[in-house]
Amino acid sequence: MNGVRRVYNNISELSEAAARQWLALSASSISDRGVFRVALAGGNTPRKLYERLAQPDYSEQLDWSNTQIYFGDERCVPQDRVESNYHTAEESLLSKITIPPENVHPMYDPFFSAEENAARYDELVSEFEVFDLILLGMGSDGHTASLFPGTEILDETKKYVAAQYVDQLLSSRISFTFRAINAARNVFILVSGDGKAEVISNISRSGEDSFSYPVQSVDPQGSLVWYLDKSASSKIL
Ligand code: 6PG
Repeated sequence: MNGVRRVYNNISELSEAAARQWLALSASSISDRGVFRVALAGGNTPRKLYERLAQPDYSEQLDWSNTQIYFGDERCVPQDRVESNYHTAEESLLSKITIPPENVHPMYDPFFSAEENAARYDELVSEFEVFDLILLGMGSDGHTASLFPGTEILDETKKYVAAQYVDQLLSSRISFTFRAINAARNVFILVSGDGKAEVISNISRSGEDSFSYPVQSVDPQGSLVWYLDKSASSKIL
């Protein structure tokens, strides 16, 4: 398992720890480079982290005017649909903070195809290439972002963002590639729930060279921290 593993009693304590580290990283990034570029994860696990960041004791400390918010992957659905990762972020964080609208970069516009959206976002990311922080989750099949087992995007080395039809979902996704993820200064992988315990156990046991899950290819040039709760770690404790 690449990186550092931190285990918390529950999703609330996991989210509190991740929020504290977000605060520290945003302050140091803005102090060093004048900007904090962060890519949000999709799914449900990060929701509590977003809600925590929206609370005044965090949101009033964070410099949103110098924070640029991106998305690590997106479903090809309009922003008002509950499946949209933008919708989750809007509901739990973006609608509750004072961030300039131009600092938030949605990944999917229904006016364009999945491929056109991916090309536009790839161009956007190629302007700076390195994120200060990328948040990721992990599915019970070991996928991360929308990098699913058996898909071609896993082997993409030139683009930062690509579109991929996912047979398992019978739908297309737009996702960071490992080129974007592994260029990051910091990556958090947030994993909660006993449904993920089997994969976490297999990853923890496997040797460095056995890559059977996409998430095992997350190996950033900067730091990688796994934020796990006790349920997700139940087979390794
Ligand atoms: C997505 C996510 C995906 C997610 C995992 C875990 O768009 O679905 O990017 O990679 O992080 O599927 O999802 P949960 O947090 O809901 O378990």
